[in-house]
Amino acid sequence: MRLSRGVAVVGAGMTRFHHKLHAGKTSRELFVEAAREAAGSVDSGCELGDVEALFVGNFSSDAFEHQAHTAPLMADWLGLCPRAATRVEDACASSGVAVNMGALAIASGAYDVVLVGGVEKMRNLTTEGVTDTLAMAADDIYEVSAGFTFPGLYASLATAHFARYGSSWEQLAAIAIKNHHNGALNPKAHFQSEIMETARRRGERRGMTFSDEMEFLRSSLNPVIAYPLRLFDCCPVSDGAAVVILSAAEVAKRFTDTPVYIRGLGQASDAMSLHDRADLTTLRATRVAAEQAYGMAGVSADDIDVADVHDCFTIAEVMATEDLGFFPRGEGGRAAVEGRTALDGDRPVNPDGGLKAKGHPVGATGAAMTYEMFLQLRGEAGRHQVEGAEVGLTHNVGASGATVAVQIYGR
Ligand code: COA
Repeated sequence: MRLSRGVAVVGAGMTRFHHKLHAGKTSRELFVEAAREAAGSVDSGCELGDVEALFVGNFSSDAFEHQAHTAPLMADWLGLCPRAATRVEDACASSGVAVNMGALAIASGAYDVVLVGGVEKMRNLTTEGVTDTLAMAADDIYEVSAGFTFPGLYASLATAHFARYGSSWEQLAAIAIKNHHNGALNPKAHFQSEIMETARRRGERRGMTFSDEMEFLRSSLNPVIAYPLRLFDCCPVSDGAAVVILSAAEVAKRFTDTPVYIRGLGQASDAMSLHDRADLTTLRATRVAAEQAYGMAGVSADDIDVADVHDCFTIAEVMATEDLGFFPRGEGGRAAVEGRTALDGDRPVNPDGGLKAKGHPVGATGAAMTYEMFLQLRGEAGRHQVEGAEVGLTHNVGASGATVAVQIYGR
């Protein structure tokens, strides 16, 4: 697979991801906020009027806000009508796939400039309502009716990984500690505190003290959600939006001297139900999408300087770093414990805090990953910058791996 013409990211914006901050706002307001920031980030200026088409990743404004037909609504609120506006729904990979759709639309020659974003306003519902809504992305007949929720599905993947490779919950905890550390450096993150700081705050309220993170993570303040996954193994429920502006490579210099190019992309699907998969310790769709993206970009896993991977649960980061080829199968957890995926490690992963700490407004996550690469490869990520990053990768998973989108970026 190759693109008939090059595609660049020339602007990017996102709201902070949070569970309370956006109470009272609608997804259209969040999307407009992110789109305005994206337009404002374009160095030589970009009027939203320059945009020829809009792709919106959104999982379920229908259930969360009783509002379907999201794309023309966003176009209207951005003043973009009558331009083409398309909603992309692929569960938690909605806007990762939307980035691919936008890039392919430009590569086809149909458009020179498109706006791609994602949005989700989840916190209108209680945790029970959110859990029920998210479960619609699993197989209703064979999984949900058998009692599965998303924490439960990923708990099954964790148990299988532990059994095959001897990986452990302590390795998962290392990922939570690392991602909260990175989130504390990211002003857009949902959680902006180290786990130890949270331990002190939550402990104080209950007259409990902890000598280190692991003591807190093993305590009743980090309850089991679905064995072996505990609270800090899960991403939170967040509201937020992210938007990127893509242009044809040949016109990118009109907008900025420092575009970030999409060098490769890939997308794959897999059996929806876990019982139909041959192996629960790997996501086949990640391996296939990554192979496409590496092939198109002409790079290998060893060339990736920085990656944002889909860590909706800590076990998902272990599997992603193995399936993307960063580490051999069964070694992802140990690599995290050894600090190899830390900001200053040899394989920095989720410098923005990942879904675990940055948050996961599901439809917005893929576009937020592209936003992060726009910052990282331009050296603009501030305190969570990976020094000298030149090649970046994003990996966005829908549900338990039935959809995966991967992109590779370069300067
Ligand atoms: N990690 C760490 N802390 C979390 C957290 C998380 N994932 N989720 C909530 N908290 C914190 C809250 O900030 C709050 O802290 P505070 O009392 O200091 O303000 C406290 O825990 C209680 O928050 P609440 O929202 O009531 O938690 P909850 O028990 O209702 O929800 C989960 C916790 C894990 C069930 C929920 O976050 C969840 O469902 N996450 C997974 C979402 C998901 O499946 N996404 C799709 C992935 S495919």
